[in-house]
Amino acid sequence: MKVFTKIVDLQNALFCQRKKHVQIGFVPTMGALHEGHASLVRRSVEENGATVVSIFLNPNQFNDQSDLENYPQTLEADCALLEGLGADYVFTPSVAEIYPQPDTREFSFPPATTVMEGERRPGHFNGVCQVLSRLFAIVKPDRAYFGEKDWQQIAVVKQLVRYMGAQIQIVECPIVREASGLAMSSRNERLTTEERVLAANIFDVLKRSLVEAKSHSLSETRDWVTAEINAHEGLEVEYFSIVDGETLEAVDRWDDSQHIVGCITVYCGSAPIRLIDHITYKG
Ligand code: PAF
Repeated sequence: MKVFTKIVDLQNALFCQRKKHVQIGFVPTMGALHEGHASLVRRSVEENGATVVSIFLNPNQFNDQSDLENYPQTLEADCALLEGLGADYVFTPSVAEIYPQPDTREFSFPPATTVMEGERRPGHFNGVCQVLSRLFAIVKPDRAYFGEKDWQQIAVVKQLVRYMGAQIQIVECPIVREASGLAMSSRNERLTTEERVLAANIFDVLKRSLVEAKSHSLSETRDWVTAEINAHEGLEVEYFSIVDGETLEAVDRWDDSQHIVGCITVYCGSAPIRLIDHITYKG
C-alpha cells in the first residue's frame, strides 16, 4: 500500500494502473475509520483492480467550527486498517493541496441539498460537493463507494455526478451497526460508555416504528418516534422526516411513494453528540 500526499504522485501511480486497463475503486473518507468504512473498502477491493482511499478532513463541509476541531484524527491506525483490508493507495492531502485557493463554487441540487441536513447545516452539502468534485477529478475512479448511513449524502452525490457528467458508478453500501444496533459513525468515539447504551435506543425505536406504521398514519408514526426517543433522558430529536427515498421530498401519506424512508437526527448526551440514522418503511 502506498500513501501519497501530493496529487501528482497519486495520479502518476493511477496512470500506470489505467494503462494496464485496471479499474479504479475510490472510497472517500475523513479518517477515524471504523467497520463502516472497512465494509466500503472491502467491497471496492472485491470489485476493482485497484482501490484508492482518501483521508481528508474537509474544512469546507463543517458549518460548526468546534465540530471540525473535535473530529477524531487517527491517521496511523487508519493506515494500518487499510493495509490489512488490501487498499492499494491512501491519499492524505493537505488543505492547500485540495484548495490551492478558496473554493467559491456553489452547488445546489434542491431538494436533495436543501432539506433535512441541508436546512440544519447551511453550507454542509456545498462543502461536500466542493471536495468530492475535486477528488473525483483527481482520482477519476470507475466506481465510488458510499455508506447508506448518510442517506441524504448519497442522493446529493448522485446529483453531483450527473451534473459533472462524470462516468463514475456510485455504489451504495448497507449501513453497518454495532451489536446494540447503533449505526457506526466516527462520532460514536466521542460518546461515553453510558451514552453509547443510550444512543442504541434510536435504532430500537426506529425498528419498533415499523410495526407502529402498519396501523397508524404517517404523521402519527412520525410523532410516535419523536416522543419515544425524547422519552429517554439525554436524547433529543432534532428532526424526524419521512421522505421519498429517492427525491427526499417530504411525503404526507404512506401511499404517496413506492419508496419511503424515515431520516432522523438526534442529540445524545451532555456534549451533545449529533447522531443520524434512518429506517426504510417501503421499497
Ligand atoms: O462522508 C464523509 O465522510 C464525507 O462527507 C466525505 C464523503 C468523505 C466528503 O468529505
